[in-house]
Amino acid sequence: MSKFLLSWIVLFSFLDFLNLSDAASIVNVIKYGAKPDGKTDSTQAFVKAWVIVCNSAQAVTMYVPQGRFYIRAVVFRGPCKNKIIVQIDGTIVAPADYRALGSTGSWILFTRVNRVAVIGGTLDARGAAFWKCRKSGQNCPQGAISITFEWGNDLKLSGLTSINSQAAHLMIKRCNNVMVRNVRLNAPDQSPNTDGIHLHTATGVIITGTTIQTGDDCVSIGPGTRNLWMERIQCGPGHGVSIGSLGKNANEAGVQNITLIDSAFTGSDNGLRIKTWARPTNSFVRNVVYQNIQMRNVRNPIVIDQNYCPHHQCPHQTSGVKITGVTYKNVQGTSASKVAVAFDCSPTQRCTGIKLHDVKLSYLDRDARSMCKNSGGKTTGISMPNSCLKN
Ligand SMILES: *[C@@H]1O[C@H](CO)[C@@H](O)[C@H](O)[C@H]1NC(C)=O
Repeated sequence: MSKFLLSWIVLFSFLDFLNLSDAASIVNVIKYGAKPDGKTDSTQAFVKAWVIVCNSAQAVTMYVPQGRFYIRAVVFRGPCKNKIIVQIDGTIVAPADYRALGSTGSWILFTRVNRVAVIGGTLDARGAAFWKCRKSGQNCPQGAISITFEWGNDLKLSGLTSINSQAAHLMIKRCNNVMVRNVRLNAPDQSPNTDGIHLHTATGVIITGTTIQTGDDCVSIGPGTRNLWMERIQCGPGHGVSIGSLGKNANEAGVQNITLIDSAFTGSDNGLRIKTWARPTNSFVRNVVYQNIQMRNVRNPIVIDQNYCPHHQCPHQTSGVKITGVTYKNVQGTSASKVAVAFDCSPTQRCTGIKLHDVKLSYLDRDARSMCKNSGGKTTGISMPNSCLKN
């Protein structure tokens, strides 16, 4: 055989190999029966595609092309054999009848998966009828969180849009090392309990470049959250970035090492909030830093509230949550109420080590006010309103 011919054979088999491996490494849900018509139930097709990618020894991409895919509650279960990318170019829509998701608690659930990246896509949970049910005080199912990651490690969620979630948009629970970036979460101002991102027992989560407009907390940071980094978050409307509610239970994991920087709140109910139940507990909040935060017409820009107690579940009790080491650095803008800074700490567990540095908040071009109860710390730099913290 001539050298020339041999090199052609080598080249062609190489191209062939590339093709084959390419075909094997992209698993298109259409191939498993999914229909991009927004009507045909594609749940089983997605599950079949997932089983293929999850069992693949090589790294693979599960691909959801353009179009609308109708999906009921679905579980993507691990552990899987290798890295997985879930690339979504289309929109995933929930059943129009909210009872179809019922009380499953989650619509799209990733459980016990490692090294999974979900990239792009839109989730439309069509929550309007469900919110209406809740507001009417009828007996409604608990509602579903649009996308949940639980018991996972090394996860990434990038470029996703979630609209009209029934309950929270995104839940990260019992996970380590999660990157959330360039995500948009959107539900109306008046949609009940539509938290943007809810974290529970999560460590090493990074949330960056995220726009959240929703009816409840933009980010709610639950018990057991540690080493959370949030950067470039746009929040509002919504209830702010909230640590809590903590301390509902006597035995509860605390929250520590939380950072929020370079972020803005617009027309939200709260900005930087820490909220605890007025009940005995061993829970705590430690080492929180808020830095370079812009407030625009925010009702409670800076608030610690240790007297949370809906439905009188804690009469005459005080919060056992120990709050210590909370820094507010370069927080500027406008408050929509007179009291722009409120530290309402527990009489039995004073807040300690609060630091205010260059806080400049006004109320309708007038002076705002501060309120301090059982709170101690240091004020440096600009202090508007006048700080009431005691050393
Ligand atoms: C605090 O969290 C950051 C990530 O936000 C991490 O890099 C750092 O190591 C953590 N610090 C401690 C003391 O755990």
